Amino acid sequence: MNRLGAGIFLAVLGLVGCASTSNNARQDYGLGRVIDAAEIAQWDIDIKPSGEGLPDGEGTAAAGAILYQQYCTACHGDQGQGGTNDRLVAAFDREVNYSTGSPTRTIGNYWPYATTLFDYIRRAMPHNAPGSLTNQQVYDLSAWLLFQNGVIAENDVINRSTLPQLQMPASGLFYWSDEVVDLATD
Ligand code: HEC
Repeated sequence: MNRLGAGIFLAVLGLVGCASTSNNARQDYGLGRVIDAAEIAQWDIDIKPSGEGLPDGEGTAAAGAILYQQYCTACHGDQGQGGTNDRLVAAFDREVNYSTGSPTRTIGNYWPYATTLFDYIRRAMPHNAPGSLTNQQVYDLSAWLLFQNGVIAENDVINRSTLPQLQMPASGLFYWSDEVVDLATD
């Protein structure tokens, strides 16, 4: 074993040593702090395809249209056609081969679950102020985008029970790999 090899070997031994110590007794390294359930709840915001995690409330496309013009148009175009950033409205076309990456894949022609919309908008949009929208606003914006993408009718209301039941146009493009993962319970 050369000198470098020996060094790496010792370093690995050191790590193993640390791991076994921390298994036996909690060590205080002077880093971080214990957080309580309320703080964990702020981070624990993922929404499953089953709808698990969706908050109370409901949204409509009419209310979402106003919010969209206020918060989203600047980057995504006034009809969701795209602008400085991604296109958000695209109808699913059975004749198109979406595996080529063209045309743009977005909500209506690619996303498999409607619940992802609520999750994504709430955690990431608007891009310059993520996390700033209320659950009410996110429901309304999701409804407007689902309406524009032809997934719901203009007057449909979305909420924690209707959103997971929506059939996305492109959901048939997806299939489980050999490794079976149950997204509903994972
Ligand atoms: C300052 C520019 C900006 C604003 C304002 C903005 N977005 Fe975005 N949006 C982006 C960028 C950049 C991305 C791509 C992010 C990435 O790929 O990581 C994106 C991606 C998205 C996507 C995912 C598109 C896809 O098919 O992958 C959705 C949905 C979305 N935005 C919704 C919204 C909504 C709703 C609003 C208004 C509340 C909004 N955005 C406001 C910049 C913006």
